[in-house]
Amino acid sequence: RIAYVNGQYVPHADAAVHIEDRGYQFADGVYEVCEVRDGALIDAPRHLARLWRSLDELRIRAPMGEAALRVVLNETVRRNRVRNGIVYLQVTRGVARRDHTFPSDATPPALVVTARAHDRARMDAGAEAGVKVITVPENRWPRVDIKTVGLLPNVLVKQQAKEAGAKEAWYVDAEGYVTEGGSTNAWIVTREGVIVTRPAENGILRGVTRTTLFDLAEKLQMRIEERRFTVAEAKAAAEAFNTAATALVTPVTAIDGEPVGDGRPGPVALGLRRRFHEFAA
Ligand code: PDD
Repeated sequence: RIAYVNGQYVPHADAAVHIEDRGYQFADGVYEVCEVRDGALIDAPRHLARLWRSLDELRIRAPMGEAALRVVLNETVRRNRVRNGIVYLQVTRGVARRDHTFPSDATPPALVVTARAHDRARMDAGAEAGVKVITVPENRWPRVDIKTVGLLPNVLVKQQAKEAGAKEAWYVDAEGYVTEGGSTNAWIVTREGVIVTRPAENGILRGVTRTTLFDLAEKLQMRIEERRFTVAEAKAAAEAFNTAATALVTPVTAIDGEPVGDGRPGPVALGLRRRFHEFAA
């Protein structure tokens, strides 16, 4: 395997960043995960647009232009011979003697890109069987709209889910509304067939998969509503599902041990999963 590290393609086993990298010391960085399908990046323009937004919000300089970054992403995919898998990119504020305030403007941001193949048939089979989720109190900082590498709360709840025999943890805000999963956006389908997900204006990351799913649902003339929903509403819903570049559309079959609908992956979620790539760019 090959990784891209600050201008060079190096063997993955030897790829390293300096111990004074601000990503390492302060989680002072942002990232993106993009699906690779049949050798092509899926929804790359939206992932890059969000990356630039994350960088701007944190006042981290872009390591290169968007076109050049796309070349690096594609080249990393190519050098790893990834047909189906993911490409990961991370930008940190760079390497500087430890100090909380920003380093000098001369400090270049650090860019790392990796690519990893997965067995698509196996992944599809796993996802289509559905996953269980647990619910946990929201405990993250309010700027979850920025895709930062500061993921400690997410790490802890994903581990908690795993230890509970579940795949994902849904965060629940102080008012009892679901925000999102530890690494996915959360959705339900009501008994009337309306697809519901939380508005992206607060409390969640605006998922690229989420945005593309809106396009898909609209083109298919499905009823879709952006509004908050509670855990109780989710448990009583016909279906629930998660979205992310890594999960695509993954049906949720149980919440806190209680079955959703008939406890099997729902037709709306499975249908959206199977048609997703017709509308991805
Ligand atoms: N996670 N919400 C959170 C907290 C996420 O971390 C992610 C993605 C999403 C979905 O975003 P998108 O559809 O753009 O992938 C929502 C990535 C995949 C990860 O951390 O691995």
